[in-house]
Amino acid sequence: MALDILVLYGSYRRGRLGIRLADYLVGGFEGLGHKAQLVDAKAIDLPMLDLRYSDYPAGEAPAAMAELADRLTAADAFVFVAGEYNRGMQPGLKNLVDHYLKEFDRRPAAIASYSMGRFAGVNSHADWTVTLSAMGMAVVPERLSVGQIGQALDEQAQPLGEGGAALERGFDGFASNLVWWAEAAKAAR
Ligand SMILES: Cc1cc2nc3c(=O)[nH]c(=O)nc-3n(C[C@H](O)[C@H](O)[C@H](O)COP(=O)(O)O)c2cc1C
Repeated sequence: MALDILVLYGSYRRGRLGIRLADYLVGGFEGLGHKAQLVDAKAIDLPMLDLRYSDYPAGEAPAAMAELADRLTAADAFVFVAGEYNRGMQPGLKNLVDHYLKEFDRRPAAIASYSMGRFAGVNSHADWTVTLSAMGMAVVPERLSVGQIGQALDEQAQPLGEGGAALERGFDGFASNLVWWAEAAKAAR
């Protein structure tokens, strides 16, 4: 069954590297026959949180916020591409997520982390696990963690060297785990 999978990424930095992992994941899920789309917080550029989507009277939310609400509601599964700033979450993705709540409910979420160094962003996992669970998502057990991201993926999101090969091996289990939970949740919904 083809699933509708959103890959959410939230760095606003110029020269950002995590976009490579986000693009890789979109391509990977498409390669498995699913509909996969990038949700790039920088491109959507919601304001720093003032009103949540649900705080607006019907039809009065900014167009970009309303469009994303519809995309989230339609999705079968989410992948959160989690970089690590000062051993915590990246604020751009957290700001995007905080604009919504029920739009995420009862779908599985997977965490794919990365960093420039060798620790692969794993310090962000615990924060994201708590937040995504609190928002009604089922956070799947399988994780993907990519260290030295600039050496594992090139600018076109193509795997490079040993790091890229490890990513490709890890993606198979990561994807099949998320797909299992997404199909189960879809059947239950
Ligand atoms: C403000 C800031 C804080 C960072 N903190 C960490 C950190 O705690 N651990 C880590 O492994 N890398 C850290 N880094 C390095 C990032 O892993 C690296 O810059 C990565 O490319 C950031 O993702 P992005 O390029 O998608 O923004 C930090 C980078 C920045 C800009």
